[in-house]
Formats: sequence, C-alpha cells, structure tokens
Amino acid sequence: MVIRVATVAFEGIEARAVDVQVQIIPGAVHFAVVGLPDKAVAESRERVRGALIASGLALPAKRITVNLAPADLPKEGSHYDLPIALGVMAAIGAIPADALAGYCVLGELALDGAITAVNGVLPAAIGAAARGLGLICPGPCGPEAAWAGGDLDVLAPRSLIQLANHFKGSQVMARPEPAIAAPAGSLPDLADIKGQEGAKRALEIAASGGHNLLFNGPPGAGKSMLAARLPSILPPLSPRELLDISMIQSVAGELREGALSNRRPFRQPHHSASMAALVGGGLGAKPGEASLAHGGVLFLDELPEFTPQVLDSLRQPMETGEVMIARANHRVVYPARFQLVAAMNPCRCGQALEPGYACRRGPNARCAAQYGARISGPLLDRIDLRIEVPAVSAADLILPPPAEGSREAAARVAAARAAQGQRFAAHGLPASTTNATCPAALIEQVASPDAEGAALIRTAADSLRLSARGFHRTLRVARTLADLDGEPRVRRVHLAEALSYRGRSEPVAA
Ligand SMILES: Nc1ncnc2c1ncn2[C@@H]1O[C@H](COP(=O)(O)OP(=O)(O)O)[C@@H](O)[C@H]1O
Ligand SMILES: [Mg+2]
Repeated sequence: MVIRVATVAFEGIEARAVDVQVQIIPGAVHFAVVGLPDKAVAESRERVRGALIASGLALPAKRITVNLAPADLPKEGSHYDLPIALGVMAAIGAIPADALAGYCVLGELALDGAITAVNGVLPAAIGAAARGLGLICPGPCGPEAAWAGGDLDVLAPRSLIQLANHFKGSQVMARPEPAIAAPAGSLPDLADIKGQEGAKRALEIAASGGHNLLFNGPPGAGKSMLAARLPSILPPLSPRELLDISMIQSVAGELREGALSNRRPFRQPHHSASMAALVGGGLGAKPGEASLAHGGVLFLDELPEFTPQVLDSLRQPMETGEVMIARANHRVVYPARFQLVAAMNPCRCGQALEPGYACRRGPNARCAAQYGARISGPLLDRIDLRIEVPAVSAADLILPPPAEGSREAAARVAAARAAQGQRFAAHGLPASTTNATCPAALIEQVASPDAEGAALIRTAADSLRLSARGFHRTLRVARTLADLDGEPRVRRVHLAEALSYRGRSEPVAA
C-alpha cells in the first residue's frame, strides 16, 4: 500500500503542492528518499529514523521508499521530515491511515522526536487554505499559521507523540491563536533633530509618497540620524500589506516565535553587502535585503562605498518591483517593491560643499565628481528627492528641542497616504499604490497642474532640459505635495517645490 501525505515546496514565496508517497514492501532493509531532494532532504532519513525510535516506534526491517512528487520540482529545506515520518507512521499503523487525508504537513524533526520550527509556514498555510486542506506544522509556528484565516484547521504539535495522541483522541490539541510581535522599544523620534528643517520636510514627503530619497552632506550633519527616524513617521500597514510582507519574512526565517510584526520594514544593510545579500540568491535560494524591505524602506548609508555592481543590481527591482534569481534549473521571483533612502558625503574628504573648504586632492568639484562617479547615472536617475544636508550650525544646536515631533509628522503622512489609497483604488489599482509607484500615464492624469503650474513646468522643461522621466518624476513629487496640503489639484507652488528637489545637477541619463 502507498500512503500519500500532502506537503509543499517553495518557489519564491509561492508554496507549490508536493505529494510525499511512502511505500513499505518486503525485501532487504533499506530506506531511500527519491524525487530531486537536496542535501537537507536526503539527511531527512536519519532524523526520521532517530525521531521514530525516540517516540517508541522502530522502523520495520523492510524496504521503505519515499517518493517526493512531482519529481522535476527541486525540493529544498528540512520541512519534509514531518510528512515523511507521518507517512511511515501511517504505513506501519501507528496512526490511522486516513488521519492525514485532509492536511498539508511540514516540519523538521529532532532526534528526540520533537518537531522544530521551519521557514515558510505562513505561505504554506495560505496555500493549504486555498487547496481546501488543513495544516500540520511545528508547535512554535502555530501562531504564524493561524494568520491564514479562522476557517483553516491548524494542528501545531510539539512532538510526534503529542500528534499521535491527538489522532488517537487521548489528548486533543487546541487551535493556535494568531500573534503580533510586541514592538521592541519605541522608535527614535524626529524631535531629537535640531534645525535641518529642509531635510525633515524631505523625509516627510518621501514617507508620504513613497519616493526614493538621497541625503548628501558633510559627516556629522545628521544624515544617518534623519534616516533612522523615518520608521517613526511611515504610514501604518494595511492587513493585506501585513500578510504580503510577512510571507517574505516567513520564507526568510525572520519571524520570531511565529509572531508577525506590524511595523513597516526598515532594512539597513552594511556597505560591504554582497549582491546575494542585497538582492537574494546564493546557496539555498533566500530573499535578500531588497525583498525583506518590500513594502518598506531600504536604507543604504554611505551609498558610494557600496560596490558599484551591487548597487546596479538594484536597478531592475526598482523598475519592476520584484527580484528574479536564476538557479541551476529554475527561476525564482521574490517581490521587492521598496523605497530607497540613501545617504552620502559629497566627496571622499566629506567637505566639498562647505564654503571656504578646499579638498586635499585638488579642486572640490573634481573630488566630488570622482566620489559621485561610483553611483551610476541610471540609479541616481531613479531617486526623486535629492537633498543637500548642510552641517548644523552651533546656533541651531543650542536651540531648545523642536515643538513638533514624529507624532505630528506621522499624522500628516497617514492622511496623505490615505488620499492616495482612495484615489488609486478608484482607478482600479491596489490601495497600497503610492504616487511613486503609480503608472506614468495615470500620474499625468491625476497630477495635471492648473494653468499657472502648466506655464511653470513648460518654462522649466526648457531651461532645465527636463527629460520625459524627469517630467514624470516632478509630477509625482508635486502630486505628493498637493496630497500633503489636502488639495485635489496640483498647483504652481507644488511644482516649484518639486522642481527644487531635483538637485543642482542632472545626472547623465541612461
Ligand atoms: N541636527 C542635529 N540635531 C542634533 N544632533 C545632531 C544633529 N546632527 C548631528 N547631530 C549629532 O551628530 C551625530 C552624528 O550624526 P550622524 O547622523 O551620524 O551624521 P552623518 O550621518 O551625517 O555623518 C549624531 O549622533 C548627533 O549626536
Ligand atoms: Mg552617517
């Protein structure tokens, strides 16, 4: 007889259906796993054997074959332990043969029979619900699985024995409850920053419209400090966004104790990050920082210090909102719609923009150009807001702390985001669309300026030689400025301010 147990294989954040088939037939003692398993899956045999013996079940002295179907889908990870062990248990009569029929199963086994946490339980649970199945997952992942909906039947045992007892009816398990991670401390507040009104305003605009932002200024001006305060003003997550973001964190193994986080991601990779760390891939496909920042912020401090090739690998996800990774025999796609926030010094000495300062390596302009050349034009071209952050003056530093902090700014940001959500939902786009991510054709329509504004942009287009992309970018930022003012129409003031954020020098376009 062949026992079948439903489980999954992950392709990106997609859970694909996999069938574990277990057959025990008379013959030489043998235990084989076939069906394109990777090393972790092949090692499953040893863990399954150990866990069964620890649970008081000996493997029969027969020929055991486990087939993972479909055979052409690569199987990675350690979550096949549990479906294999349960298949064997059903085949030897340790649990009723029909007990597993309505369930999708995943989990890793310890040698003592405990069921340990695995990655990807949330997408597996959502996939199981879509297939009309229940889910058996490790105890620690139960709260995560419970997010897939109240109708989903979730069993989250801590050991094989607990599960066997549940099936026998001697110890029935309760359904786990969905959990939200308690916020780890309060976020740093904008009120800590003295002066820098222009930079704070830019931060608020970036948070409101989802625009990419670059701070350029001397060391110690407070660029890193400003960026670290962005999470405190980002708009709250919608339930849909919470699930989308958590699926990626689940696959990457970033969820602690199965609890979801309702904070928007803010990822800050170090400038020594490799391409695999930033965009994903490498050994055992995993989402990179760009995907972990999906729906939130990717902050790159000291931008020119990143390897240029690594930076350029971000251009594709910035355009398409997803990362595509080619593997040996298949392709994996992860969502990666992030907002880029970057900070840099104007030159290697850091002071090229300071009045009266002369760079050691020759003219300031050349020093700055050499340093800036590490960032490619096309990447720079995708940054809507480029702000110069001057050094804070002593006069600013001795001022009392500003009256307004993150709470006031966050309220304005949330209102501006809500206006965008309503507008784009009315055009049939997802409510999480922002002015920065809205299609170019639609932004022309929803940000069409009044007569005075149109006249301004016509003159600016000539004098600044605005490219088509530059034109749309200006409209996007102007639309956000109008949303912050609560105005239905983009006016001249909005366009004028938007144009001022384009930076003094236009980069060489790609
Ligand atoms: N505007 C400011 N208000 C208060 N403190 C500031 C300000 N700018 C800088 N500082 C102080 O200087 C330190 C360095 O700031 P930082 O953000 O690391 O500068 P940068 O990243 O521009 O080199 C901060 O930790 C803070 O103590
Ligand atoms: Mg810094």
